[in-house]
Parts: sequence; C-alpha cells; structure tokens
Amino acid sequence: MTASASTTQHAPGFDADRMREAIRDNVWLHSTQMAPYFEPEHRPFVLVKGDGSTVWDANGTPYLDLLAGIYSVNAGYGRRRIVEAMAEQAMALPFINPFGYTSVPAATLADRLGDLAPLGGEARVFFTSGGSESVETALKLAKQLQTARGYPHRWKTISRRVAWHGTTIGALSVNGLTSYRSVFGPLVPGARHAPMSHRYRCPYCGDAPACNLMCYDEIERLVEFEGPDQVAAIITEPVQNAGGCIPPGSMDYFRKIRKLCDDTGIVMIMDEVICGFGRLGELFGSTYFGVEPDVITTAKGITSSYAPLGAVLVRKSIADEFINESAPPDLPAPVAAARTEGFMHGLTFGGHPVACAAANANLDIMLEEDLPGRARETGAYLRSELEAALGDHPNVGDIRGAGLFLGVELVADKATKATFRDDGLLEWLSDAMRDRGLIVRNDGRNDPTTQLCPPLVITRDECDRVVATLAETFTELGRRLGTIGTAQATG
Ligand SMILES: Cc1ncc(COP(=O)(O)O)c(C=O)c1O
Repeated sequence: MTASASTTQHAPGFDADRMREAIRDNVWLHSTQMAPYFEPEHRPFVLVKGDGSTVWDANGTPYLDLLAGIYSVNAGYGRRRIVEAMAEQAMALPFINPFGYTSVPAATLADRLGDLAPLGGEARVFFTSGGSESVETALKLAKQLQTARGYPHRWKTISRRVAWHGTTIGALSVNGLTSYRSVFGPLVPGARHAPMSHRYRCPYCGDAPACNLMCYDEIERLVEFEGPDQVAAIITEPVQNAGGCIPPGSMDYFRKIRKLCDDTGIVMIMDEVICGFGRLGELFGSTYFGVEPDVITTAKGITSSYAPLGAVLVRKSIADEFINESAPPDLPAPVAAARTEGFMHGLTFGGHPVACAAANANLDIMLEEDLPGRARETGAYLRSELEAALGDHPNVGDIRGAGLFLGVELVADKATKATFRDDGLLEWLSDAMRDRGLIVRNDGRNDPTTQLCPPLVITRDECDRVVATLAETFTELGRRLGTIGTAQATG
C-alpha cells in the first residue's frame, strides 16, 4: 500500500487514495464481486458521517438513507444518548462471560423485552450478536425442545421460498434463494420450503378479489407430507424482505400458522430481524398481524445498529421446558441431555454488555419518541404520496408493505405484469438515485422492487424528496424500457 497526502475536510484523517487501495487489495466486501474495484476509474463509495436520516460521504455530499444502513438504523444517525450509554458501560465493565454469567444491561434488557414482546406476557431472552446467529439459535432451540419432549426425530423445518434468513449454514438452509443456496450444498437436511404468500403474483388467487389462503394450505400440505411428528419449526418473516417487502395476502395467514403449530406441536418462529423494533408501525411485527408466535428472532434495529446484537425471545412456557435437573434413567442419552443440560448453545459475544447498553438506550428512545407510531404515520403518508405520484406509471406494478417498509415493484408491462430481469438496469437505477442524493436498494433477488426502508425518524419533507426523485428516475427507467417516449419524458 502506498501513502498519499490527500485528505478531506469532512473526514479528518481520511486519505482517499489509501482507502481505495485498502478496499481494492485487502477488504473483503460482503456478498460483493470485487472485480470492479480494480478498474482504474473506480471510486469506492465511502460514508463518514450521519445525522437523522442523512449520511455524508467523504467529499461532504449528503444522501438520504432509504435503506437505514441495511434495514437497521431505526432510530436514525447521530444519537448521542446511545453512544454515551455504550461508552459508560465500556468504561465500567466492557465484557462478561455469557456462559453462566450476565451483565446488568443484558439482564435489564431481557426484563424489558420479556414484558414488551407479544409472547403471552412473559419471555426468556437468549442474546446473540446478529441476525443469522438469532435464526441459528431459534432453529437449534426448536430442535432441542423437540428432543427434550421425547421426539428426537422432529428435526425438519419449513420456511418459504425466496426468503432470506441469514448466511450461516443453518440460516442458509432455511433461506429460499436458490442461487445463494446452491454453492454450499448439501445444507442442513430436512429444511423444506413452501411457496411465498405474494398477493400481486399469487399463482392461486392473483386474479381473485381477495386472498383465498391457498398459500397457507400449501404449508399445511407440506407439514402433512413431511409428517407433522417430524417437523420441528416453521419460520417466516412478518413482511418478507427478499422479493421486495411482501406482506401475506391475508391478515389471517399467520393466525392459521399459529393454529397449525398449536395443533401439531410445531414451534412457530417469527423472524423479526427486520420487522422488529418499530419497522412495521408496532414495536414487534407479529403484533401488526395480531399473532403471538413461540419464538421471535431479532437483531438489526435492536440497537439501531450502533452495536452488533441479536436477541431470541422465547415464550416462557417453552423456555420452562428446559428447566429440569434430572430425567428418568431409561431415557435415550440425547433426550436426557436435551432435558437436563439447559439450552446447549452459547456464543462468546452474545449479549455483549456494551451492545446491551446500546439496546437499552435505543429502546428508551423508541418508547419515549414513539418511533413505531412515527413509522405508522410517516409510512402511511409516504405510501399515499407514492400512490398519487407513481400509481399510474407504466412501470409501477405494485406498491406494498407496512409501516416504513415499503416496496414498489417495477414491471416491463403493467397490464400483463411482465417482469424484467436486468441487474444492469437495476444497478443503473440505484446509481441514478444516488446521483440525486438517495441511497435506495433496488432489489433484484426476485422480481425487481425498489425498497423504501428509511430510519423511522424520516420527515414528511424528506419523504416528498424521495417521491420526487423516484418519479424522476422512473421516468428515465420508462424511457430505457420503452414504455415512455422521449417526448413524454420530462424527468
Ligand atoms: C429476516 C432476516 N433474518 C436474518 C438475517 C440475517 O441477519 P445478519 O445479517 O445480521 O446475520 C437478515 C439479514 O438481512 C434478515 O433480513
């Protein structure tokens, strides 16, 4: 690496050339092809500062962050209160071994989350350091629970196609994205996938006036086929992220899954890594759908991403099944161990005290400022403005979502819903939006969808800017797709 003297006023100590070289030669960006970083004209996008919903790059250029980091900076940037809570805890005691011990902020946080979570009034909380670990933990917990109940053969899981639940092998196994899965097979055996519940593109009732819940029936059929006594858990997101902010077609969808789990002893896991902590307009996404699962996985917004943390919230009656000091002598060894050893799982950094201090301060802010309520109100405003400005656009097929988790699905032909698969075009769209001061994910993992998932503190004025920018860039997109003639195009 060579040193260079160029620094910028907005990022003291930042040396653009050196940073570029370090990224090109040494940093391994997640899920990113590094080849473009070797092109001489390539300049990496380096953010150095944030406040509210705005972030600044090293040149001092501001951007509205419509991705909230990665669906995660829920309370917004520049929250001194969170930073001070972290500093205070780091000074007092930076770390405690979680294998048998806990810290004051972790215990406080567990107590608060136990009261707040929609899990029948009481919960036990297992801390992790992120979303994949939370999903991994929930799956292991369900499997150990079934073993402890005397069913060691109940190890299958059901999740949904296209869904994203993380990248560790267990979480990857319940992921529903073929391209991400195919490289690493064989994955965890018994991970089965049901169709999505996707009203706009539903193969069962897309043309009918309302969802007929056949998507749920497919889950029930899969359980029957796999054998209800062999399925450990069903894991779903309240609003599915991959595929572009997809809520279920009916408000009864999750209630039916709840009943299925009650009838069969399957553990119902809601993956709220994105939908938790205010995103859908409620503190927890399950509440939005009026359902109480058995287990809720969280991460991201739990600290608004000021520190890495995840939490698995478990219905108390289920956690209590792990409390046995002895087992009958004739039990098979794994069943006896599952019953008497507590939850056989642990992570050095799970529930790190500094991260838990951040989470407590974040939760104070969420409750005092009613950030879920703000997500509900601002989300409704943003959605109605999107519908007014873009509802008739020839390339806007669907506007959907909940709270401040909104998706605009883009189509090649509005009448036929014909999609387009063109990563280059989506990349161009993201660049065009960024050139106009917006960071937006144009998700191409299923049918292309522009995702709007800002910090929950975004203002109405900022929403107006977002809508105006989308209108402008979609006009240009229409030109490129041939649905808008150049004479019509004004943007
Ligand atoms: C629903 C869901 N679950 C799990 C994960 C994995 O979280 P992490 O990236 O923190 O491991 C994600 C990540 O985006 C997610 O969206």
